[in-house]
Amino acid sequence: MTKRIRKAVFPVAGLGTRVLPATKCIPKEMLTVVDRPVIQHCVEEAREAGIEHFVFVTGRNKQVIEDHFDLAYELEDTLQKRGKEKELAALLADTPGAGNTSFTRQQAPLGLGHAVWCARDIVGDEPFAVILPDMITLQGTRGSRCLAQCIEAHEAHGGNIIAVEEVPASDTHMYGVVSVGRDHGHSFEINGMVEKPPQGTAPSNLIISGRYILQPEIFGVLANVGKGAGGEIQLTDGMKGLSDRQSFHGVRFDGKTYDTGSKVGFLAANVAFALARPDIAPAFRAELKKIVGSL
Ligand code: G1P
Repeated sequence: MTKRIRKAVFPVAGLGTRVLPATKCIPKEMLTVVDRPVIQHCVEEAREAGIEHFVFVTGRNKQVIEDHFDLAYELEDTLQKRGKEKELAALLADTPGAGNTSFTRQQAPLGLGHAVWCARDIVGDEPFAVILPDMITLQGTRGSRCLAQCIEAHEAHGGNIIAVEEVPASDTHMYGVVSVGRDHGHSFEINGMVEKPPQGTAPSNLIISGRYILQPEIFGVLANVGKGAGGEIQLTDGMKGLSDRQSFHGVRFDGKTYDTGSKVGFLAANVAFALARPDIAPAFRAELKKIVGSL
């Protein structure tokens, strides 16, 4: 019996330099895809996967994320007085319950591995999920989003799970890359991983796409892992250390992942998520056709 995954860690301390000037005063996680911030898409994906506790590793100037997941008394009161029940109900349904969020700060930008390590006391001694909020996912042919598919793989294999996605070989140097051992199709054994391999040296074109299930022993490894690619404490290096004694499986997510941390990825996410919304898609499709027709 594998332990149920109840907690998800969201590292949200990043500066968002790839989308300046939008992120000068607004955290990149608060940029809007269709009608909700990127981070809310991630929290919804986590909720759909059965996550109960949302752990945010924030940094300076990220307070608005905490406010976003709190009640907004004045707004709610005004909506109620104006009879906007639908809007009010939607707002409340999106707000996590009392005690279901935790916030801690990564005081210095030392890397993703360090950010995850900052959550060690809040996570405690149980397996947990990590969701990188730059990446947002649309459900695949199995009808679920990426984290739910990772949890399914965890139930089947136990140990640690990493979601992966295929990219052109020319892009692998920007990501963590895994190599494939015994292959089960949708999932496979990972027998190697490397963070941001120099061009032409990647062991495969399967990149780590921002969803993980990790065992709590990762924290002990991260405490001792040195600086890696880019001079940062890398989560991939920590996982590589843990893979000496625990299993790692990859999950080929069958849906689509969008990297909202890049300008083009962010724009593509807006188009794709709008087309996936029954209330917006018909009108938006008509607009899009006009634009595409003029290309
Ligand atoms: C991080 C991870 C990398 C992963 C990527 C996905 O890199 O370290 O392994 O492939 O996210 O977006 P970053 O984007 O923070 O450089």
